[in-house]
Order: sequence, then C-alpha cells, then structure tokens
Amino acid sequence: MKRIFLSPPYVGAAERKAIAAAFDSKYVAPCGPMVDAFERRLAARAGRRQAVVVASGTAALDLAMAEYGVDRRWTVIAPTLTFIATVGPAYHRGAKLVFVDSDETGNIDVARLARALADAKGPTMVIAVDLYGRCCDYDAIDALCRRHGAVFVSDAAEAVGATYNGRPAGSAGACAIYSFNGNKIITTSGGGALLTDDDALAARARKRSQQAREAAVWYEHREVGYNYRLSNLLAALGLAQLGRLGKILDKRRRIAAAYGADGCLPPVAGENHWLTVKLLADTAARDAALARLAAANIEARPVWKPLHLQPVFRRCRVYGGAVAEDLFARGLCLPSGTGMTKADVARVKKVLSAEGAR
Ligand SMILES: Cc1ncc(COP(=O)(O)O)c(C=O)c1O
Repeated sequence: MKRIFLSPPYVGAAERKAIAAAFDSKYVAPCGPMVDAFERRLAARAGRRQAVVVASGTAALDLAMAEYGVDRRWTVIAPTLTFIATVGPAYHRGAKLVFVDSDETGNIDVARLARALADAKGPTMVIAVDLYGRCCDYDAIDALCRRHGAVFVSDAAEAVGATYNGRPAGSAGACAIYSFNGNKIITTSGGGALLTDDDALAARARKRSQQAREAAVWYEHREVGYNYRLSNLLAALGLAQLGRLGKILDKRRRIAAAYGADGCLPPVAGENHWLTVKLLADTAARDAALARLAAANIEARPVWKPLHLQPVFRRCRVYGGAVAEDLFARGLCLPSGTGMTKADVARVKKVLSAEGAR
C-alpha cells in the first residue's frame, strides 16, 4: 500500500519550470534575480520591509543572534515545546537557556513567560514559536518584552501563511524567521528567511550571510561572517511555491477539516494547518496508534519532546512543564501533506479509529 508521509514537499510542473528558467538564465550562484525577487515577495507577504533569504531557518535564527551579539551574558527564553533548532544558535553562542511551559493550545504560556522575564538577569531575548503553524500571542509577548527590555524574536518557521488577528505570521518581533525545509508549508528543499522592518539590520544580516565582505574590489573584512546565502536556483523554487501558497493553504485547511477537530489540539484562529495534532487518551494509546499507523505504511510522529526533558538541556531552568509533558505524552502529529487525497485521510482515520482515539 502506498506510503503516506507526514508532510512531504508538494512540488510539480510550476516548480520545475521555475528552476529550469533560473538554470537557463545562468544565475546558478547564490546571488541572482530570483533571490532578490523572492526576498521582495516574502517581505510583502509577511507585511515586513525586509526579508533576507538564507540556507535554512536555523541560519536565519543564527543571523538574529549575531545581530544582537548573543553570548554567555545573555538569557534566552523559549517555549519548551518546540524543535531544538529554536534554541540551537543561542546554545552555540553560550547563552543561558530558560524554558517555559505551554498553554492549552501548545504555544508558550504567557503568564509563565512573565515570571521568567521578571527573574531574568542581564540582556534577555525571547524566542517565541508558532507551534505547528498556530500563531502564539504576539501582542501579549510583545508587551512583556517591551516592559522588560527584552528582544522579541518570532520563530515562525512552521507558520508561513498563518495569521494572528489578521496579521501575517512573520510580522512580529524585532526579527522573525521562516523555514522552507522540505517538510514545511512551502519549501526550497532547504532554506529560510529573516524578516524585519529594520533596513539597517537586514543589510547587516545580508552582509553577514555572505562572509561579511566589505564593498571593495579585494576581499576586505571588518568582521567575520557566515556562508548562509540561498542559491538563486532554490529561490526560484521558493518563488514558485509562494505563488501557490493560497492553494496550498486551502488544501491544508480541507485536510484538517476532513480529520475533524474532535480530540485534537484546540484550534487557533488563522492557523495554517501545517500538522494536525491528535490527542490520545494516554501514552499507551499514542504508542499503539503509532505502531498501527506504521504497520499500515503511514508516517506519524509524537509531538515535539519538550526541550527541558532533553538530556542535553537537563540543567536548564523550566517554568512549569507539566502541560508540555502531557502534550508530548499523548499527542500525535498526523500526516497533513498538501498532496493528500480524501482517500488518504480516510485511510489514516480508519487506522486511528481502530485505536479508539477520542
Ligand atoms: C520551530 C522551528 N524552528 C526552527 C526550525 C529550523 O528550520 P530549518 O530546518 O530550516 O533550519 C524548524 C524546522 O525545522 C522549526 O520547526
């Protein structure tokens, strides 16, 4: 029986044509007209002045860390329920990581975040995540960061196309980031973007992403940069994907509707339905469902393992943690790829119902 993947890339003739055109233009290097066009289109879509496209969402986060000079003097506060990439760049710079529990939507618990900010010493950054394409409470987080003089970075890696009170994901914080990894809503096979309204910040990030070369004929450097720029070929792929984002979101919405909201994480207005998360009765039921799905050649995954439970972060402070632990214990991410058919969803539901999922 055909394998159903969690969230495979959704690419076809439009993407093939765009890549071929970029190839034929001979702009096969990291810079080129498609990179510039992709940046303009992304910035417009995110309601931002600037987008800097790079090789991954992680690289975009690293450029945000470089901009603020995050190092061991810094405290970086992040939700515990997220992918490790949210905090990877801050970890590598030696920042003190502090984790915060989820609320019932899975996103960062704002009351606990307030406590973490009140306790934080020295320069502080909050990296807030739009979990599974569901925007966190931008206004509340922004107000808290302003009150405490903390930098707000919005990790919208999973949230391309989602909205918060009508505003696009990617529009919050001093900087926001997107990911275009192969499993995301739109893909450049690997890629990401840094979004900001600060022209000077974007110029610095763009420069750092290209080895921080000064404007000279020879190679002149006042600082050491990175090689993070996205290739022109991949930007062409991204542009083609972005052109189809509306249709992709419609398809995702229909897939989520076919699963139904019953027994799932509570809906969040404006979500992009990147992944549908089913909550099973307990861990035994989750594991049984996972095994049955695997036997039926269907890919599913537990919800992110909270970062405060990861061995590498065992010494980090966590504010709360029980809600995220419960979501990890019972939550299952269901296949939600844009290319799924009604029959595919029905196949997944049939296997799940045999498990007695709620
Ligand atoms: C929440 C979150 N942050 C950051 C990233 C990093 O993005 P990338 O894989 O493009 O480096 C991802 C995805 O992989 C993610 O899910």
